[in-house]
Amino acid sequence: CGGEGSGGAASGKDDGKIVMGFSQVGAESGWRTANTKSIQESAAAAGIELKFSDAQQKQENQIKAIRSFIAQKVDIIAFSPVVESGWDTVLKEAKDAGIPVILTDRAVDSPDTTLYKTFIGSDFVLEGKKAGEWVKQEFASAAGPVNMVELQGNTGAAPAIDRKEGFESVIGSDPKFKMLASQPGDFTRAKGKEVMDAFLKANPDIDLLYAHNDDMGLGAIEAIEAAGKKPGTDIKIVTVDAVKDGMQALSDGKINFIVECSPLLGPQLMDLTKKVLAGETIPTRVLTEETTFTQDQAKAALPERKY
Ligand code: AHR
Repeated sequence: CGGEGSGGAASGKDDGKIVMGFSQVGAESGWRTANTKSIQESAAAAGIELKFSDAQQKQENQIKAIRSFIAQKVDIIAFSPVVESGWDTVLKEAKDAGIPVILTDRAVDSPDTTLYKTFIGSDFVLEGKKAGEWVKQEFASAAGPVNMVELQGNTGAAPAIDRKEGFESVIGSDPKFKMLASQPGDFTRAKGKEVMDAFLKANPDIDLLYAHNDDMGLGAIEAIEAAGKKPGTDIKIVTVDAVKDGMQALSDGKINFIVECSPLLGPQLMDLTKKVLAGETIPTRVLTEETTFTQDQAKAALPERKY
C-alpha cells in the first residue's frame, strides 16, 4: 500500500477513504481559527479523513507532526509552515516515503520545489503593496513627515517577510514617510497591544500604524485608547486579513483600511488533493483571490461576513 493515487490504501484501511495529515500553525488569530474551520469542514464535505495537528506556533511541533503522519502512512500531507526556512529534511522524508505534500497559506524557501506538489495561498507581497498604496494616497496632501510604526507577524514567517517587503517597495522611496519603529507582534492581539504600548511610550507623534494582521491592530487599538488617543483619527490604522472583528473595527472608524487575506482555503485544498492522488497534473501555484475594504465597504460587507 501507499503512494500517490492509492486513495486510502496507504493508511492501511480498506474503506478507500483518503487520509490527510494536516499540520496547522496554531490558533494565534481570528484568521487562523477561520482557516482551521474551513479545512475541517471541507475535509468532512469531501469525505476525506483528516488527522489535524496544532503546532502552537512552533516549527519543531510541525516537524514532529509531519514525521508522525509519515509513520502513519497517510495518503497526503498538507501544512501551513510557521516559518519559511528549515523544511528540506522533513519534506525529503515525505517524498522518499512516496507521500505528496501540499503547502497551504504560507510558502517555504526550499530551493527544491519537487518537495511539494503545489502552494495554495495569497500573494503576501501584493498585500503589503496594497497597504502601502493606500497610505500614500491617504497622506497625499500631508506635508510630512508622516511618522509610521509597524507591527510585524512572527519572525521568519512568509507573511511577515513579504508584507514588510511589499509595503516598503511602495513607501520606502518617498522621504516623506518615516518608519519610527517596526517590531514583531507575532500575529496576536496580546502582543500587538504590548508592542504598541511600547511604541506609544517611545514616540509621542505617531501618525500611522501598519499592522500585518487584524488581531495585532485590534490589540494596538486597546493600547492607543489606553494612552488617551483616538484610533482611526489621531493615529490612522491599516491592517491585513478582514476577519469579522477587524471589519467591525473598520466599520466603527477605529481602523481606516483593511487589505483582505482569505483564510477559506479548505475547498481548494480538498479538490487539489483528489487531483494529486488521481495522478492529475495540477498548477504549482494556486493564488487566492482577494480585495480591500474601506470603512464604507466594511459596513456594507459586514452582515454577510462569515468569519
Ligand atoms: O499566514 C496568514 C497570516 O497568519 C494571517 O494574516 C494572520 O492573521 C495569521 O496568523
